Amino acid sequence: MKKFNLLTLLCAILLVGAMQSCNQAPIIEGENYSFQDGMIVFDEPARVEGQQSMLGFAAEPIPVVRVGFIGLGMRGPGAVNRFTHLEGVEIKGLCDLEQSNVDKCQEILAQANLPKAEGYVGPEAYKQLCERDDIDLIYIATDWVHHVPIAVYAMEHGKHVAVEVPAATSVEECWQLVDTSERTRRHCMMLENCVYDFFELTSLNMAQQGLFGEILHAEGAYIHNLSDYWNDYYGNWRLDFNQKHRGDVYATHGFGPVCQALNIHRGNRLNYLVCMDTKSVNGLEWAQKKMGSTEFANGDHTNTLIKTELGQTIELQHNVYTPRPYNRLYQLTGTKGFANKYPITGYTFMPGQLPDEVLPEGATINPHGFVSDEVKEAVMAAYKHPIHQEIEEKAKTVGGHGGMDFVMDYRLIYCLHNGLPLDQDVYDAAEWSCIGELSATSAKHNSIPVAVPDFTRGDWNKLQGVKFHTK
Ligand SMILES: NC(=O)c1ccc[n+]([C@@H]2O[C@H](COP(=O)([O-])OP(=O)(O)OC[C@H]3O[C@@H](n4cnc5c(N)ncnc54)[C@H](O)[C@@H]3O)[C@@H](O)[C@H]2O)c1
Repeated sequence: MKKFNLLTLLCAILLVGAMQSCNQAPIIEGENYSFQDGMIVFDEPARVEGQQSMLGFAAEPIPVVRVGFIGLGMRGPGAVNRFTHLEGVEIKGLCDLEQSNVDKCQEILAQANLPKAEGYVGPEAYKQLCERDDIDLIYIATDWVHHVPIAVYAMEHGKHVAVEVPAATSVEECWQLVDTSERTRRHCMMLENCVYDFFELTSLNMAQQGLFGEILHAEGAYIHNLSDYWNDYYGNWRLDFNQKHRGDVYATHGFGPVCQALNIHRGNRLNYLVCMDTKSVNGLEWAQKKMGSTEFANGDHTNTLIKTELGQTIELQHNVYTPRPYNRLYQLTGTKGFANKYPITGYTFMPGQLPDEVLPEGATINPHGFVSDEVKEAVMAAYKHPIHQEIEEKAKTVGGHGGMDFVMDYRLIYCLHNGLPLDQDVYDAAEWSCIGELSATSAKHNSIPVAVPDFTRGDWNKLQGVKFHTK
């Protein structure tokens, strides 16, 4: 009897154990992902024959870059204006859904004494612009859902593409950009302007010269109360998108600069992320008011944590709903130093970390607080990035978020003129944009880890370090 009881108990334990382990393997499957080794893994399509990696790709030099602009709402006309200040470009076409927006940009050209461009109006008019054979570059500043269809069409018609942020709205769209760029051998650069901002690019230069030691942790964010803007997006596209999409839908301004500091797909890679968001309160209120919605997918505050191959962590935040000062964080925590942009701009270093010739006389460095403004200015001047040395003055005159937008356009055209690899490649566009769907997927499944696809298909270690090519 005793023996029987023990045996029964043992069997019962084994049975419960087996049932539990069955329960522990959650059935998580989406259309394009599955559950493997404790995390969600999105399908990674094999490279199709005939496609080649775009890592380090340089096109033939283009002495005069002929450009067509698509999307001329709040953002587009600023780009048209900046291009009137660039040498060696011709603005050939202007395209929007509204004739009045095209006219506004024709006026910018007239003010700059430049010839009128061909106007294109209507939802499919971009196709005619992309089909022209006298255009080299299509510059896209439409709402997010039109980025990929237009970019793909443009590349398929032989044009290089520059596309606003985020370049793509889903993992599947990211692959579309990568595959089309690899198949057509056309550049696809996302217009991530914040990597050219003065603090970010200076800090990148400092990071590359080892001033922070080994970077272990980085932070980035898009915290921008958009309550003054929700009424201004064409056809309410932005609130409509956020109403339908959970996750960090606008990650690239905070993420791009820290990915560069961590050499992502240039000797390092993003491994996996987890995401946790708050409920929606203010977002929902806007959507109730403007759209009659009773639900809102996007949390008011979204937090994402990402682990890299080299053992670093990245924290991202997204909040476009609550009253807060504007903040992109931009923070680098290294073994020997620290950089922080928002809300206080400053650096901290270990004593001895800064070369003597950089330090003002009598300056002291302690590892517990920010360096003085005098030291900060001296260090920033000493480590000013060569790109800023070249173009800062003009960029500040032309403007665009204090000049960084002009630096971005200048670099894009400089690299095309000289047949150089662009500063940001299609893999950056995909890696920085995929955070939207990946973070949403994690949040939807109680913050489960989600693997970040390797859009280079195994080549993430072939290039070493972020480079800004010059002739
Ligand atoms: N990098 C930055 O700092 C920054 C700043 C603001 C906006 N943006 C990006 O710029 C883009 C545009 O934002 P916005 O604020 O100008 O929005 P917006 O609503 O003011 O403008 C979008 C424009 O796209 C046009 N459009 C839509 N579909 C089109 C189509 N099929 N063909 C031609 N035109 C079409 C609309 O007519 C509209 O004029 C977005 O991707 C946004 O994320 C980037």
